Amino acid sequence: MENLEKLNLEDKLQKLKKLKAEKDAVILAHYYVNKDIQDIADYIGDSFFLAQKATELKEKTIVMAGVYFMGESVKILNPSKNVLMPDIEADCPMAHMISVEKIKEMREKYDDLAVVTYINSTAEIKAYSDVCVTSSNATKIVNKLKEKNIFFVPDRNLGDYIKKSLPNKNIILNDGYCPVHDEINIDEIKFYKGKVKILAHPECRKEVLDLADFIGSTKAIINEAGKYQDVLVVTEEGIFTELNKRYPNVKFRKLSNRPICNDMKKLNLDKVIEVIENNENQINVSKEIRDKALIPLKRMLDLGA
Ligand code: 13P
Ligand code: SF4
Repeated sequence: MENLEKLNLEDKLQKLKKLKAEKDAVILAHYYVNKDIQDIADYIGDSFFLAQKATELKEKTIVMAGVYFMGESVKILNPSKNVLMPDIEADCPMAHMISVEKIKEMREKYDDLAVVTYINSTAEIKAYSDVCVTSSNATKIVNKLKEKNIFFVPDRNLGDYIKKSLPNKNIILNDGYCPVHDEINIDEIKFYKGKVKILAHPECRKEVLDLADFIGSTKAIINEAGKYQDVLVVTEEGIFTELNKRYPNVKFRKLSNRPICNDMKKLNLDKVIEVIENNENQINVSKEIRDKALIPLKRMLDLGA
């Protein structure tokens, strides 16, 4: 294996191109990963777009540049594909903030209950769920469910956000959260209120969302941002790669206490090249879990489309 550190960017890109053709590989990336990966990805998107796109690809190998649950979801939806992660240790802490026991407990407590699981969750949790959602379709999907009682896991902030738009549902929250969005402080946002447009991700706390002019997934924020001149962006800062590329004339403001997902930032271009070359970091999900987790994920694709 060539020492990648000794290659310049152009040589690395040549090598990547050759390897992708040789190994029949395609690269998906989330908006939160480093710019060097967004620059070479075949498709960049939010969690819903990536899950959906993964079902349409013809290539044999899918490199999922994101965190572990994203690779798992791609594998569950496409079990015959070879799914690789640039860094197998890049994981979403929130995915582990709910247990199977807690779900079973709730199912015993309520007859008329749907367990609605944010895609930021483990495959095992998905296997015990009725439907999955992402930040771009959670309200729409929950509104379509016949059950009145909804156990929304793991994210309390996203759950609380949809609760406001769906007063006819009894939404039961779980105490999970995204450490990156949950710790965003409102003082600076208060300062900007009324001066610039505030666009925020629904993983932020209620106090932050109450000050936002627009709330949406990373993709929704990107689509919305082009309508304004001056915008405060309240989400993980990987999003600025796409925002700056798409709207060079818009002034984007960052929070001074920068929200950075250290897990997403573990990935880099060299790791992408290495996993394709060595066919490393393959995602495997047991057939038992895969078959069960596929049902809520497919339901999400149907209801969220
Ligand atoms: P979206 O991709 O749905 O905006 O979610 C953001 C996120 O935190 C991904 O982990
Ligand atoms: Fe998880 Fe938050 Fe990182 Fe998204 S930004 S992967 S929710 S820790």
